[in-house]
Amino acid sequence: MRTLTKLMMAIVLATGLAAAANAADVKGLSGSAPTELNAAPPVSTLVETKKWERTFRQQPPMVPHQVDKYQIDIRANECLKCHDWQNAAKEKAPELSESHYKDRDGKQFETVYGGRWFCTNCHAGQTDAKLLIENTFQPGAGR
Ligand code: HEC
Ligand code: HEC
Repeated sequence: MRTLTKLMMAIVLATGLAAAANAADVKGLSGSAPTELNAAPPVSTLVETKKWERTFRQQPPMVPHQVDKYQIDIRANECLKCHDWQNAAKEKAPELSESHYKDRDGKQFETVYGGRWFCTNCHAGQTDAKLLIENTFQPGAGR
């Protein structure tokens, strides 16, 4: 009986070792084993030199400037200090389009509609971030 137990333990141990060896062969997206500690990838920088063209007509234009200092929360929205219709001309900033003052039924408001409050949900910064995987997307016509 004791020999059988020993034999079974040996099998369990061997299987465990084999599994550990296989884990080292598995490569994560970063190219290293998931158990290895990776250095953080370089932070992508914002491209502020020029405005990027939209890749399709309905695309929210990307933000050509820093946004991390502009607070957006339930009460404050610092983007509006420049982009709201009352301030845009004075700040020489592009004005929010009319769509931002309408609800989903087309009802018009004087102030930005709540569904457009969190600007950065739709407007991402222009960064030089590398593609994680190949992308063959081609810009559409009529931009
Ligand atoms: C201090 C004023 C100021 C503030 C605050 C500001 N912006 Fe801007 N923004 C500008 C100006 C000026 C431009 C035009 C830059 C250019 O033409 O190169 C611009 C451009 C943009 C554009 C591109 C518009 C287009 O037609 O291509 C977007 C999108 C944008 N901002 C979003 C934001 C968001 C989102 C915030 C808040 C997180 C914000 N901005 C805060 C001044 C501001
Ligand atoms: C639900 C997505 C969404 C949200 C939220 C949103 N936008 Fe937009 N925005 C768009 C789209 C789509 C466009 C392009 C089509 C259009 O003009 O309606 C646009 C256009 C713009 C433009 C360009 C206007 C022009 O005439 O070129 C500016 C500037 C802008 N948005 C700023 C903002 C700011 C600031 C906020 C936050 C107060 C905001 N947006 C919130 C989707 C969004």
